[in-house]
Amino acid sequence: MLKDKKILIGITGGIAAYKVCEIIRECVRRDAIVKVVMTEHAKEFITPLTMQTLSRNVVFSDMFSLIKDYDIAHISLAEFADLAVLVPATANVIGKIASGIADDLLTTVFMATKAPVLICPAMNVNMYSNPVVQQNMTKLSDLGYLFVDPGYGELACQTTGKGRLAEIPEIMEAMETALTDKDLCGEHILITAGPTQEPFDPVRFISNHSSGKMGYALAAMAKRRGAQVTLISGPSSLPPPSGAEFIPVLTALDMRDAVMSNLNKATVVIKAAAVADYRPITVSPSKIKKGADSLIMELVRNPDIIAEIGKEKGNRLLVGFAMESENLIENAREKLEKKNMDMIVANDLTQEGAGFQTDTNIIKILYRNGRLEELPIMNKKDVANHILDRIRALKAEEH
Ligand code: CTP
Repeated sequence: MLKDKKILIGITGGIAAYKVCEIIRECVRRDAIVKVVMTEHAKEFITPLTMQTLSRNVVFSDMFSLIKDYDIAHISLAEFADLAVLVPATANVIGKIASGIADDLLTTVFMATKAPVLICPAMNVNMYSNPVVQQNMTKLSDLGYLFVDPGYGELACQTTGKGRLAEIPEIMEAMETALTDKDLCGEHILITAGPTQEPFDPVRFISNHSSGKMGYALAAMAKRRGAQVTLISGPSSLPPPSGAEFIPVLTALDMRDAVMSNLNKATVVIKAAAVADYRPITVSPSKIKKGADSLIMELVRNPDIIAEIGKEKGNRLLVGFAMESENLIENAREKLEKKNMDMIVANDLTQEGAGFQTDTNIIKILYRNGRLEELPIMNKKDVANHILDRIRALKAEEH
């Protein structure tokens, strides 16, 4: 989490400099403390006043300016940072850093800092693919510098290709990841999320209100904490978390196949998906036209995916969800035992702030040894971290 973290943003002279405004705002929104250092060329694209206003801090760019409180700017800035972010990073500054050149305040600060450095390149497509630039980035990457790869698309120089600054959510996620302890390193977490859709003709299906928010939050937090993540998701409007293996599926049968064929590599399975228990027995190849006043549709049971995993779970840790509208604890405990889970996350969908579509959840966690843990309302990212903490603790108990 960026709260109270000290972020040093280094801006160099590229047209994408204007996008840094939004990055700084987002850092401030997340309660980070932001300081900005700019090159002289960056000031051609965006003003220090804008950066100062948004960061709520004095902006630095001159190596030799006389400052009011005596302090050696490049050293104090370098020491200030918990994380230094170079955005946008031009081919020029990447080349300088890779060659050990420190000829202005920004490159000097970036040389002096011991904080992790995150580089967000943005440049013309041909510059980006130039082997010299590629070699410089490989060298820096091998030395432990972190990168957010540029995106593919329309560039300011009216060409199309790889070189545009990565999207802001991706850069923010990379910042969060850089500042998060990698306490789940070595785990491979398979997560299912979202609803399933069970079609009965080419235009219609049976489904439920699951948004995927809980499963996607689990995937993003597990990724930040260093786990390898495979996210198998039914239809959801959410963007897949960066860095996770993403397998989109439609039906419960698709989800079962995807889960079972990826089970081998998983050390932990979290089944957050709202799987449809039944599917229409036949799927009409053409649209069903309306006719009589009533229509009866025959449904057939879908496989219970988590129960199948429970039968062959080996050393894996198996976590399920139970969303109930009555008898929450009794129903959840029965599912935990019947499906051979290690832990079940239960929520009461009649409670305000819990369940589908919301950004918050109110959960109770039940364990095999009978323990019950009740948690207050939290946003889904905090809920996800809490569940991952408990998974880590259970794993530690095993050893
Ligand atoms: N689940 C599954 N496959 C299914 C149905 C459910 O893997 N066909 C998983 C869910 O992902 C969840 C857990 O089982 O982790 C409990 O799901 P839930 O729908 O609450 O329970 P059901 O066992 O389907 O029971 P019911 O719908 O009768 O409450």
